[in-house]
Amino acid sequence: MSDPQLAVLVQDAADRMEAAGVFFGHGTDNALDEACWMASHVLALPPDFGPEAFSLPVAEADRVRFDALLQQRIQTRQPLAYLIGESWFAGLKFRVNRSVLVPRSPLAELIVEGFEPWLPASRLRRAVDVGTGSGCIAVALAHYYPALEVDAVDLSAPALALANENVRAHGLADRVRLVQSDLLEALSDQSYDLILANPPYVPEASMKTLPPEFGWEPRCGLVAGEDGLDLVWRLVVQSAQCLAPHGILICEVGEAAAALDAWLADEAVTWLEFAHGGDGVFLLDRDACRRVAAARTP
Ligand SMILES: C[S@@+](CC[C@H](N)C(=O)[O-])C[C@H]1O[C@@H](n2cnc3c(N)ncnc32)[C@H](O)[C@@H]1O
Repeated sequence: MSDPQLAVLVQDAADRMEAAGVFFGHGTDNALDEACWMASHVLALPPDFGPEAFSLPVAEADRVRFDALLQQRIQTRQPLAYLIGESWFAGLKFRVNRSVLVPRSPLAELIVEGFEPWLPASRLRRAVDVGTGSGCIAVALAHYYPALEVDAVDLSAPALALANENVRAHGLADRVRLVQSDLLEALSDQSYDLILANPPYVPEASMKTLPPEFGWEPRCGLVAGEDGLDLVWRLVVQSAQCLAPHGILICEVGEAAAALDAWLADEAVTWLEFAHGGDGVFLLDRDACRRVAAARTP
């Protein structure tokens, strides 16, 4: 019997994952893309392999390995990134393990496309990534802005250890500084043109409703109090102090967006839009952060 074509294997895997109710959202958002990612890993193909690869025959040994990975994904519901130890963000490859969230923030699009009209590239000299996890945002910033100095903070020592591996793997240790800190606490004397953050923002009660895939991720990377905003408030207040006069804070709050909007009430907050999907990302300039901080100070 001849070897099956890649197209057959990929379609079958996608069908089986869908039938099993697998959740997609940790690096892909649909079954077919996830099956292609699986195939690219097993067959050592580029992640964006083209249609010509679909007609390739798949040798028996590769088919067995592919099937084993598929079974594991379906049976354990573990995100594929953890099963293979790597993921992609802003077109770059990152090592991941269970001490960090699987990279998936829509902030990747902003990093690649640029921050204009809010912050011209010429004014972007120092940035900080708050809650760096795998280091994906900090590394992508340093990669796409070759003159940029980047600080990257996290409270979690295991996350920082992995971020360090990723910073080194991308050859960026001279421009990305990793700091263990509770948000910007340890950097309160610094001044940044850009504060970029994807902090934990899942409301406590929502945790129980999330698909099993999220249970494999570190809780400290997801949960943030009753309304999901525990860390965001503190970050806005700290940003009032750490932003340069022309500086901006861009922060992802996902489903906590409505709560944030209600709380900010009269404050002019900009909600960013993304061509490649994603929402719940707001922008505040330094003056707005200062007004919010003043309003919250008793
Ligand atoms: C949603 S994850 C984002 C990880 C990464 N930036 C990304 O986009 O994939 C949030 C990160 O914030 C970190 N974190 C949680 N509480 C923190 C705190 N108080 N100060 C600094 N980092 C914190 C977690 O350890 C986790 O790595």
